[in-house]
Amino acid sequence: MLSSATPTLLIRNARVLLPDGQFQSADVWIEGGLISQIGPDIALEIDRVADTVIEANNMTLLPGVIDPQVHFREPGLEHKEDLTTASRACARGGVTSFLEMPNTKPLTINQEALNDKLTRAAQKSYVNFGFFIGATAENSPDLQTATPTPGIKIFMGSMHGDLLVDQEATLDRIFSTGTRLIAVHAEDQARIAERRIEFAGITDPAIHSVIQDNQAALNATQLALKLSKKYQRRLHILHLSTAEEADLLRQDKPAWVTAEVTPQHLLLNTSFYEKLGSLLQMNPPIRSAHDNEVLWQALRDGVIDFIATDHAPHTLAEKGRANPTDQADEEASSTTVFLEPAKVPSGMPGVETSLPLMLTQAVNGRCTVAQVSNWMSTAVAKAYGIVGKGTIAPGYDADLVLVDLDTYHPVLREELQTKCGWSPFEGWNLTGWPAVTIVDGQVVYDRGQFNQDVRGRALTFNA
Ligand code: DOR
Repeated sequence: MLSSATPTLLIRNARVLLPDGQFQSADVWIEGGLISQIGPDIALEIDRVADTVIEANNMTLLPGVIDPQVHFREPGLEHKEDLTTASRACARGGVTSFLEMPNTKPLTINQEALNDKLTRAAQKSYVNFGFFIGATAENSPDLQTATPTPGIKIFMGSMHGDLLVDQEATLDRIFSTGTRLIAVHAEDQARIAERRIEFAGITDPAIHSVIQDNQAALNATQLALKLSKKYQRRLHILHLSTAEEADLLRQDKPAWVTAEVTPQHLLLNTSFYEKLGSLLQMNPPIRSAHDNEVLWQALRDGVIDFIATDHAPHTLAEKGRANPTDQADEEASSTTVFLEPAKVPSGMPGVETSLPLMLTQAVNGRCTVAQVSNWMSTAVAKAYGIVGKGTIAPGYDADLVLVDLDTYHPVLREELQTKCGWSPFEGWNLTGWPAVTIVDGQVVYDRGQFNQDVRGRALTFNA
């Protein structure tokens, strides 16, 4: 029995997404951080007054978003982002859990570095957290023992230093040792290096998508699939970006393989370089409108399992955007310095906009709200074996987001919480913005206000 001191939260009159994908007009009673009861008129049935009551006014209640690929820059790169600013951005975006990548300083390649991140996050993060362990050519023992972690991250390309693992023999050894999930950034580094020489000196930002072309991604995905099949090793393909990779998986996807796509690979394409310039540069690069369509179809058909943002903030100055207050890109052009893509850091922020971006697509008829929620929460929890998350049902953790599907609001630079202070989606008029975000039964974000006292917890993984 829960003691009477256990905090209680009542969400009254929400349109609740149930595990079968249907919506029910219901109240949700939360006790001790767990979903306890869901049903019409629970408020009347339970003879207790909740400590906190949220009037949902028929807004839609979804499981909190789990973003399984983010770069939050702490420790070592806090001039771009830190765990406080990034997790505030999560709270505003309805992201109640994140899985963060190992390319920080120091690299997250052993238990000591993992423990440091877990300690920092416990002190600072507004939402729940997990951290990947990064593979190097030398850290095989750490890859087997580091805990807790959702899995091993391998940069097969688009990386430098110790985290670049691009030799087949080394990759073979990592795939053959142990059983835990391997998540790959699949780009063929040798091909990229050759093409950098071929296209050297070109400063048009669009050349980035030509240099790191579809073939570079396909080569590496083919290699990762080959090794995964050789050892029946659990493989996750991060930010799948090309039609060719989607077609490959459609023909041949073992049961132990999953794949993700980012909202930007679904919604942006190379035509956006004209407006966004180097802000569009990321790895793997933004592709063509044809790739967008094939990726959408693969997602709807279940060839691609879920969505991640690859939130990868860089400052405007690093991106060659000299004036940090530039709002319109027309204005920006006068202050833009054009650098060769190799000199510009790749990546764009995403946690704050991913849910409204995808819900706007649902409202526009490209998919359903239930599909979006599956791709951004339920399927992620399942793939990574994240205990207690991703579903609105009694006994699950009360990680929830109440979204408003009736009003539209643009992405505005001045409202962004990410430290980098820009978004490639500025000006996009979106619906489905989070009104309230709840982490473990605590209201962390309520219509523009943050609860400074809420802290997330380390996720546990049973995969
Ligand atoms: O564009 C990217 N930026 N892709 C990555 O894989 C890394 C990331 C970063 O950390 O900036």
